[in-house]
Amino acid sequence: MGETILKMQGIQKYFSGVHALNGVNFELRAGEVHALMGENGAGKSTLIKVLCGIHKRDGGNVELFGKEVNFNNIAESQDAGISVIHQELNMMGHLTVAQNMFIGREARKGFFIDDKKMEADAQRLFDKMGVKINPATKLGDLTVGKQQMVEIAKAVSRECKLLVLDEPTAALTLPEVEELFKIMNDLRSKGIGMIYISHRMDEINRISDRVTVMRDGEYVGTVNTADVTKDDIVKMMVGRTIMGEQKEASAVAEGAPVVLDVKNLNAGKEVKNVSFQLRKGEILGFAGLMGAGRTEVARALYGADPRQTGEIYLNGKRAKIKTPEQAVKHGICYLSEDRKRFGLMLDKSVTQNSAIASVDDYITMGLINDSKMREVSAQTNAKLRTKTPSMEQLLKNLSGGNQQKVIIARWLMKNCDIFIFDEPTRGIDVGAKSEIYHLMEDLTKQGKSIIMISSELPEVLRMSDRIIVMCEGRKTGELDISEATQENIMQLATMREEN
Ligand SMILES: Nc1ncnc2c1ncn2[C@@H]1O[C@H](COP(=O)(O)OP(=O)(O)OP(=O)(O)O)[C@@H](O)[C@H]1O
Ligand SMILES: [Mg+2]
Repeated sequence: MGETILKMQGIQKYFSGVHALNGVNFELRAGEVHALMGENGAGKSTLIKVLCGIHKRDGGNVELFGKEVNFNNIAESQDAGISVIHQELNMMGHLTVAQNMFIGREARKGFFIDDKKMEADAQRLFDKMGVKINPATKLGDLTVGKQQMVEIAKAVSRECKLLVLDEPTAALTLPEVEELFKIMNDLRSKGIGMIYISHRMDEINRISDRVTVMRDGEYVGTVNTADVTKDDIVKMMVGRTIMGEQKEASAVAEGAPVVLDVKNLNAGKEVKNVSFQLRKGEILGFAGLMGAGRTEVARALYGADPRQTGEIYLNGKRAKIKTPEQAVKHGICYLSEDRKRFGLMLDKSVTQNSAIASVDDYITMGLINDSKMREVSAQTNAKLRTKTPSMEQLLKNLSGGNQQKVIIARWLMKNCDIFIFDEPTRGIDVGAKSEIYHLMEDLTKQGKSIIMISSELPEVLRMSDRIIVMCEGRKTGELDISEATQENIMQLATMREEN
């Protein structure tokens, strides 16, 4: 590792009503991957925004390459060699990949933008990085993971000296994470310093040299990754250790009735003849690699996507579910994995976002019981430890993970019998994760049933009573928790069809 290229000291930042950063220190060396960790709302993204000139700092010093800097906007920090991949991707879906990469510095032929040249340049870069994306495709047609890779390529193409990645892997598939790590190692050998934000412990272990932890806007400490265990870091983050072991046996009562019976579900190319049953009080885990078709099963079941064939029985009775509204009427709720696209109302308050699905429950004789609705919203968010100065705060002012918690609160407030939770803890810190687990367990104790789609095996093993494994649209296995292991799940998750 090289010399120190960035030194942030005693950084302060206030938003109205929130002391977001209170004396934060952070240093980065050339060729180092320095992880920045902390619970949702700890101030990680804010620190980055202060660094790159999006926010003005209210105190403290920033030294870049030995010189005091104070950027007024992103352009200034880019010129100084800083590239940031933000948590919220900010790209133009209607433009091509190449146009997005060179936005603001387009190749031109006379007055006209030279698309061919930009596409060729982008292709060269992708080839060098080993990324398989066609530069002429519309960005909006790519998966979020691929869009993320474009953003990374864009940062690399700027030949920055300091690269910040704010939760880049939340939407990446496993092979894409590998690709990203390869690129990062390559950049490391070129002496580029990287700040890496992620909630995934095993990634931090693998990729980072040092870890700095923040809590509630304050600096907790910096350690060498090699010198500490996962538990040490968790303890720094939340002030306690959190254990999560595999459930030993199914907690479902013997003879519990089947509440949902799905027979021969086919939908699009992604769901091939999937059948399964869900029992009262059960948590049914859906495991598999990304792209296995789990979300598609949920969406077809919920009426969000059309199904070609398949029957759904609720409590033994055939149910017609063609739209999400019908699903909700039948007592089925779906928490989407893509909470950005299906649910965040950024310009509405925390209360409004929490209560939107259950407003009807607070209306009696045409009158809405506002205070009750507020109270329940506040209680549910308190349980999830949503960090917000008030329930009236606009959602856009919450940190990324706290926005997610509000959407989870929304579905927890809704009184349904069957919950489908799609990647419920993605982007959520470890402390809140265990709260969500407890809330799910509470729900099943009340006789509710849960389908939980998760790409994190430890989570599947900790929560599920039974596990369905999928691969390429097919159900490849079903395991009782007592017989499930990481190994046999992975085996089923990669069991491709012979052809
Ligand atoms: N523009 C804003 N206006 C008001 N408050 C804000 C604003 N941006 C951030 N905050 C608050 O500052 C605190 C820190 O937020 P920040 O986004 O930095 O957290 P984070 O550590 O990145 O969390 P996450 O892991 O959820 O992304 C939070 O309490 C957040 O609500
Ligand atoms: Mg953040």
